[in-house]
Amino acid sequence: MSNKVALITGANQGLGLGLVKKLNERYDKGDVIYLGVRRPEAGKEAIKTIEKVNAHLEVVYMDVSNEETIVAIKNTIQEKHDGIDLVISNAAARISPDTPNKEQVENFIQTNNMGTYYMLKHFQPLITTNGKLIVVASAFGSLMHLNSNLHNLFDIGTNSLEDINATMQNYVGDVKAEREDEKGWPEWINIPSKIGQVAMVKIAAKESNKSIFSVCPGLVDTDASRPFFDNMHEAQSPYEAAGHIIELIDKPTAELSGKLIQFGKELPWN
Ligand SMILES: NC(=O)c1ccc[n+]([C@@H]2O[C@H](COP(=O)([O-])OP(=O)(O)OC[C@H]3O[C@@H](n4cnc5c(N)ncnc54)[C@H](OP(=O)(O)O)[C@@H]3O)[C@@H](O)[C@H]2O)c1
Repeated sequence: MSNKVALITGANQGLGLGLVKKLNERYDKGDVIYLGVRRPEAGKEAIKTIEKVNAHLEVVYMDVSNEETIVAIKNTIQEKHDGIDLVISNAAARISPDTPNKEQVENFIQTNNMGTYYMLKHFQPLITTNGKLIVVASAFGSLMHLNSNLHNLFDIGTNSLEDINATMQNYVGDVKAEREDEKGWPEWINIPSKIGQVAMVKIAAKESNKSIFSVCPGLVDTDASRPFFDNMHEAQSPYEAAGHIIELIDKPTAELSGKLIQFGKELPWN
């Protein structure tokens, strides 16, 4: 058996670190997990919290909002390995309920949506035959959370990845001009962003024979989610939530491709 290679973005804390921990338990000596982080020192500190290191854990600098940094890591991985078995695009910018949407929308969409686009574009070709490219999205990434007059913007039958990018940029413009209400956008900027991510995954999967799908981890107790929910008693730990995602890597491509999966089941798109 050849050695396994994986990349997880936003891997220094929260769900991303939970994913590294779970995957490391399944990997052996000789396998490699790249931790894609924008703060390498934080990545190195995060590794120290892993009790038993099995795989080779390598911290690499990646700012997912910056395409060049993604291309650089793709080139490194391509030079060193025959392909990549698992890519988890997990990194996400945070938002605060106390900051006006117009002040945070641009960085949020650039990181979470353009970041997803760059990851799909550059890593999809490197995925091995039975490999997986997983985008961490959310159950909010479903059209049922969006005003029906906006559904056509995310029509996966007619739109390309670039069309979705254009829609997300127009959305940023609407929020910055404070006309999101008038256009019918929901108040929480996470919803259009997650719908954009899920739509992109569905479009990319249609055009590929690789296993590309999105997941919702459910509510996870992280510094990102805490400000939005009063009651976190039901929330999973990042390690627990990661288990439901990592177990999907054993499933056949046809069962997953293009789908949004939560706790092993497909969530509806409409
Ligand atoms: N928590 C939940 O309940 C929940 C529910 C549904 C979906 N999700 C999704 O799960 C994913 C992880 O969420 P989380 O709660 O673990 O968030 P988190 O604790 O805020 O972790 C996000 C990670 O992304 C990194 N990141 C941010 N911007 C980046 C950039 N430009 N380039 C590279 N890395 C960057 C952060 O790095 P720094 O440490 O440098 O900031 C951090 O490591 C997100 O996609 C989120 O939308 C979470």
